[in-house]
Amino acid sequence: TWTSANIVEEQVERIRAEVGDARVLCALSGGVDSAVAAALVQRAIGDQLTCVFVDHGLLRTGEAERVERDFVASTGVKLVVADEEKRFLDALAGVSDPETKRKIIGREFIRTFEDAARRINADGPIDYLVQGTLYPDVVESGGGEGASTIKSHHNVGGLPDDLQFTLIEPLRTLFKDEVRQVGRQLGLPEHIVNRHPFPGPGLGIRIVGAVDAERLRILRAADLIVREETTAAGLDSSIWQFPVVLLADVHSVGVQGDGRSYGHPIVLRPVSSEDAMTADWSRLPYEVLEKMSTRITNEVPEVNRVVLDVTSKPPGTIEWE
Ligand code: XMP
Repeated sequence: TWTSANIVEEQVERIRAEVGDARVLCALSGGVDSAVAAALVQRAIGDQLTCVFVDHGLLRTGEAERVERDFVASTGVKLVVADEEKRFLDALAGVSDPETKRKIIGREFIRTFEDAARRINADGPIDYLVQGTLYPDVVESGGGEGASTIKSHHNVGGLPDDLQFTLIEPLRTLFKDEVRQVGRQLGLPEHIVNRHPFPGPGLGIRIVGAVDAERLRILRAADLIVREETTAAGLDSSIWQFPVVLLADVHSVGVQGDGRSYGHPIVLRPVSSEDAMTADWSRLPYEVLEKMSTRITNEVPEVNRVVLDVTSKPPGTIEWE
């Protein structure tokens, strides 16, 4: 029978048998899949695992701290944080094309991870890389029968040829809700286990226009209000994901206090979905939307308008870029 306790026990044994006393690396994204995969491998082999968390400066308020503090506290994992905000913001300066932004962020991410791996590598070779691949990812990439836990790979996800790893993918047979149960079984806190999906390129693809520190500050402030009000209204579990988008290249005229304002719109994009392949816009209660709008325009002076995205996917995508 399927229980999260059985899964943990079985995977711990497999990982121990496979890895022996070799060293293992894991890139933490801050998302639930990589967190659960890392926690499982940590349970199996303890200090032989090192996690790398790339803080690209495109995270939401509190996210880096959540990984650094709460994840380490609940797992005891060995964590290296690569604080690379400047590298990413320099590389992104002046770039507003969405695909170019994505490519730059992907490239810098790999470089940062590679640098961190080389530094860690100084104490001896690293043989294995943990990935939080789920069953739907396996099916989507044509893998089918996902029973094997561990498969051989190199040049993973754009990593260069001189860094060679064998992949450990302990979640390969699981669906998202099962991964969450395994995470709970491993003692991860609810706010990590229940986290909404968040894209790797982070807020970089939620600023329509070029990304800079000031625009990130504005978006973070609005996003935090939205998250606070979503949680306060008890809506976290009925929403799949709630992107908040800053239209940084758009201004509109408003009136704030006694004067004219000329600020940016913020877009609210709450969606419901099963698997992110299709999505519908969430019918949030008007009072919740009103509270968000009032707070954002009061508390974030650069924003004078809040709009709601009522587009399904397709034809829209969940993210704006
Ligand atoms: P779209 O915008 O394509 O998003 O409807 C579907 C889901 O994927 C997430 N997303 C990403 N996740 N790296 C990620 O890890 C990415 O580059 C990326 N782009 C989109 C998005 O948040 C949604 O859950």
